[in-house]
Amino acid sequence: MTETQRGSPHASASPALPPEGAHPALGRPGGGVGIRLLQVSAEIFPLLKTGGLADIAGALPAALAEADCDVRVLLPGFPAICAGLQDAVPVGQFTLPWGESVQVLAGVLPAVPGASGAPVRAYVLHAPALYDRPGNPYEDSARRPYGDNHRRFAALAWGAVRLARDLDADWSPQVVHGHDWHAGLVAACLKLTAGKRVPCVFTVHNLAYQGIFSADQFGDLGLPPAAFQIDGLEFHGQISFMKAGLFYADKITTVSPTYAREIQTPEQGFGLDGLLRTRRGDLSGILNAVDSGVWNPASDALIPRHYTAGHLGGKARCKAALQEEAGLVASKDAPLFTVVSRLTEQKGLTLVLAGIDTIVQGGGQLLVLGSGDHELETAFGHAAQLHPGRVALRIGYDEQFAHRIFAGSDITLVPSRFEPCGLTQMYGLLYGSLPLVRAVGGLADTVTDADLATLDDATATGIVFASFSEADYRHAVRRALALYRQPRAWARVRQTGMQQDFSWAQAAQHYRAVYLAALPDFSRTTT
Ligand code: ADP
Ligand code: GLC
Repeated sequence: MTETQRGSPHASASPALPPEGAHPALGRPGGGVGIRLLQVSAEIFPLLKTGGLADIAGALPAALAEADCDVRVLLPGFPAICAGLQDAVPVGQFTLPWGESVQVLAGVLPAVPGASGAPVRAYVLHAPALYDRPGNPYEDSARRPYGDNHRRFAALAWGAVRLARDLDADWSPQVVHGHDWHAGLVAACLKLTAGKRVPCVFTVHNLAYQGIFSADQFGDLGLPPAAFQIDGLEFHGQISFMKAGLFYADKITTVSPTYAREIQTPEQGFGLDGLLRTRRGDLSGILNAVDSGVWNPASDALIPRHYTAGHLGGKARCKAALQEEAGLVASKDAPLFTVVSRLTEQKGLTLVLAGIDTIVQGGGQLLVLGSGDHELETAFGHAAQLHPGRVALRIGYDEQFAHRIFAGSDITLVPSRFEPCGLTQMYGLLYGSLPLVRAVGGLADTVTDADLATLDDATATGIVFASFSEADYRHAVRRALALYRQPRAWARVRQTGMQQDFSWAQAAQHYRAVYLAALPDFSRTTT
């Protein structure tokens, strides 16, 4: 894939990669005296995952270690995180603005790789009253957001601030990197309260989820009244954790170059496009990458047969096994379309529902793995009943099944309304399942449409359609079916897709450049 097709990771006015040896405080790049970095997130693969955020939070520490960063992670003490923490020792405790006390534990997460494959070092907020609950990190088992989420994630921010301000006598970060609204308050707390200033980088994984709370909860946050204004975290009379991150962070990143541009427009800005435009000099789009230790058909322990771009025999076996497992008709010639997704408005699945006839009439099959929106679950359930052996649905979240699906699938459907980056189209590419995507966000940056020119020069990697309409989507499905009927062209596109380089090295260098740009004095030392 060429740079133009992927888009430049710095398409939106981000700092250039630093010159070698640029920052006097850090010692020699490549010499192991890295940037001390605290990563703050609510999820981390493989311990706790509701979506792509976890995959990225789980892969970044090792990738950044390769880019000379000394990374530690800070996580809320959810049950799954506490269960994954080893060698835990208390490093201190602090009191939250509403009087509750939190203990900070330091240990390692053996399931999450850090530097040179050693377990990542972690701080975990031990606050059972806040975090020890069933359900996912944000909602109860009836899918209602917890009523005290503002406190649960303000606590995370204050934990980061305390660590930045030397709670652990042995280690403190030079930069704090927060992910999504859950970590949105970190920069506000660091900037607006007395104590050591540590720069903060804030990454937007999805602007649609903003952490909005009512104004009467502001008193719990421990911030000065001045924060609750338009030049602050106030958003239409409410509190927005996302806006806090965007307003107060020293640098902002998001997860693809195209999304970095899109969120500056009213159509995709979720009311924050104006702020993002004023901050465009500090905003960059860094394309997500793929953890090849987890997603690689040549070594994936979760799939029935291994295969590579050069030896695809195993893929046919994976397809046959998947058809059998999903209750689909055993047919090596039926193109198998698959969806692995949260079932939400964002993912454009109404198009998939509308296009089922096109797939079935074209001799294809559809398998959906997902959970979420009740209406979507029901509608896919009806479709499966209507087309037994041709359409199958598995409701739920099943990490292992997801691997078997990518391995057995021919086409990965991602027709999103918006998509900050998207990981499943990249997994599809690497597993030889051609992505069929809408040209939006990171989907536009990672898939090259198969047309006469790209088929001719062998740069095509999938099917891309433009407008969010049933007609355009159906046409894209018909193009996929037609391509499938041309085995040589299909094989070539698949080959190119499987050879895409989605490794973390480049993205990690770009994050490093952002951290350096956020560090005090950096601009002085480089200009
Ligand atoms: P998002 O973060 O918006 O959900 P991404 O494509 O970035 O979308 O990441 C989704 C991640 O979650 C991928 O790792 C995907 O395989 C996984 N995933 C989504 N739904 C399911 C599911 N029902 N079962 C297993 N894995 C899922
Ligand atoms: C969000 C986005 C998705 C992105 C993921 C990881 O959940 O919806 O597009 O890939 O975060 O950055």
